[in-house]
Amino acid sequence: MAILSILRYPDPRLRKKAKKVDVFDSTLHALLDNLFETMYADEGVGLAATQVNIHWRVLTVDPMENGHKQPFYLVNPEIIHHEGTFDSQEGCLSVPGAYDNVKRHQHITVRAQDKTGEFFTLQASDFKAAIIQHEIDHLNGKLFIDRLSSIKRDRVVKELLALNHWAKDRQF
Ligand code: NI
Repeated sequence: MAILSILRYPDPRLRKKAKKVDVFDSTLHALLDNLFETMYADEGVGLAATQVNIHWRVLTVDPMENGHKQPFYLVNPEIIHHEGTFDSQEGCLSVPGAYDNVKRHQHITVRAQDKTGEFFTLQASDFKAAIIQHEIDHLNGKLFIDRLSSIKRDRVVKELLALNHWAKDRQF
């Protein structure tokens, strides 16, 4: 297992659309292990392969509700049903320092595959549903800040670029 480095905004590789997994072999299993390890190391509640510059449709999630680990992963996830909307407060390991409310589906049904290629469906609501939607967005090259109103997004982007500039001046 290995902790992988996470791409940070405005890296253009975060904009790539991930490809469907069609080989369910040890490379995929190693990727899943590494995604979980990287997600926990960075205290994230979700991670998409896109964020570690691997452009396959794979994501890991652990909402860590009530302090308990509840890890799961999805390969080739697709939202096949959704109901309702809610305001989801989100941040992102690839957009450190930015937090804002995003409109998400409140209830979703997802069809996905496991690491052997077996199909299954999963239902999720609220926070867990928001994480899955956020990670599927990553697989499509989309960031949560893209979903903010243009006024909010401009403000957030200005702050982030100033922050990145500051950080670049202090790299050794
Ligand atoms: Ni994210």
